[in-house]
Amino acid sequence: MAVGGIVVSANGGNYEGRVTPFVVITCIVAATGGLIFGYDIGISGGVTSMDEFLMKFFPSVYHKEKNMSGRESQYCKFENHLLTLFTSSLYLAALISSFFASATTRKFGRRMSMTIGGLIFLLGAILNGAAMNVEMLIIGRLLLGVGIGYTNQSVPVYLSEMAPPKLRGALNIGFQMAITIGILAASFINYGTSHMRENGWRVSLGLAAVPAVIMSVGAVFLPDTPNSLIERGQREQARDMLQKVRGTTNVDAEFSDLVEASEASQQVQHPWKTFLERKYRPQLVITCLIPFFQQLTGINVIMFYAPVLFKTLGFGDDASLMSAVVTGLVNVFATVVSVICVDKFGRRALFLEGGIQMIICQIGVGCLIASVFGVTGLDGAFSKGMGNLALALICVYVAAFAWSWGPLGWLVPSEIHPLEIRSAGQSVNVSVNMFFTFIIGQLFLTMLCNMKFGLFFFFGGWVLVMTIFVYMFLPETKNMPIEEMNRVWKAHWFWGKYIPEDAVGLGNHKNAQDV
Ligand code: BGC
Repeated sequence: MAVGGIVVSANGGNYEGRVTPFVVITCIVAATGGLIFGYDIGISGGVTSMDEFLMKFFPSVYHKEKNMSGRESQYCKFENHLLTLFTSSLYLAALISSFFASATTRKFGRRMSMTIGGLIFLLGAILNGAAMNVEMLIIGRLLLGVGIGYTNQSVPVYLSEMAPPKLRGALNIGFQMAITIGILAASFINYGTSHMRENGWRVSLGLAAVPAVIMSVGAVFLPDTPNSLIERGQREQARDMLQKVRGTTNVDAEFSDLVEASEASQQVQHPWKTFLERKYRPQLVITCLIPFFQQLTGINVIMFYAPVLFKTLGFGDDASLMSAVVTGLVNVFATVVSVICVDKFGRRALFLEGGIQMIICQIGVGCLIASVFGVTGLDGAFSKGMGNLALALICVYVAAFAWSWGPLGWLVPSEIHPLEIRSAGQSVNVSVNMFFTFIIGQLFLTMLCNMKFGLFFFFGGWVLVMTIFVYMFLPETKNMPIEEMNRVWKAHWFWGKYIPEDAVGLGNHKNAQDV
């Protein structure tokens, strides 16, 4: 996922360079950044399904869940605004802090943002692990969010600038891979800590400190990127650094491209205003819609609330947490499919196949739940067979997401912007994503309570809309140099009219598989 407010070179492919220790370190940093984000996505659902945690912080949910009044609908037993705020507040904080991070990253370098992000995140993890009341929990969560805003903004920029251009695309999906591994790690840890006699939830929440320490300490020792040094006027240091990073003294071509890119980006005074010009309409529309659609697939219902959802379906405590591990595993392995296929079969093929597969599963789960709980959700229970069928359908759905909208939801918006609007485009992409992640996190349990099984049809309907959108409006971008992308828009039946004649063929770089 390329989440940046920074312009990096538009060129790629033809520079000299090899995989140096710097590149290896870059991968480790990328992995830690992804893990931090993924761990947070995956940890809250498991924790909020633990009795001890609910009893301590959300006693009313605990009583509802145990159906002590005997009148609770299955659909509503977890509905509680404070509980959802615990999950979703992080994304709101991340959304806001990513704007500050963008300025820090630009002015003080990527390293500075990573250090700040790691430290604030560490503070949040400590506060959460030690929480005595709901306030401490939510403040801790907000701090985690601020940390995520910083790391999500700077780490992908750092890695796309350090990586040899040929590896950028792979590293881009590599970051998504690390997110899925973080989610999986969280579900394993939740499974383990739920068996502790007490304070299991503290261990789950506190363990987020581990990647945070790696990130903060690591960032102190990391060099800053050549791009960032140039941007801050330190050209000589930048050239030295580029030679070190690429492992060769022959870096002239890349260096002059970096300088050129930096100068060009500084000439655009108002990237936001520029982004609104008619000729960038395809990029604007797609950059807003893709992250919006990604969240409207309903994936985070599973990622945040899988254990809660499985409990709602009548699974026992253990089975619920185990099911989250199963969906987490599917998520990781299916992401590998995307890495292998994305440049071979293209983005459209994955989007379209994944979309159809998701719709079928969502309709299946909706029908299954309707047939067992009906409209009231007052009685009915899943048999073992039915429960397994629901789990299987959810896994097939997660797999489809993991090789389509998961990685592509980040990759496609990051590869369609020409240099002059790339920075603005990346920020829009991140903000829209975080905003709708927040909305889904906040509203899901209420929606489940009100829309009942219809919720799955609701998300299925959205996946239908987005699949049609991709079919009609998203041109194939595989193997297309970014600076040549205008040709793709110009040739498109709908977007063609927005692209002026003189905007085509401006690019003179080949192989620009950038950010
Ligand atoms: C999405 C996250 C989601 C994750 C699941 C990411 O691409 O942005 O919201 O939780 O995929 O693997």
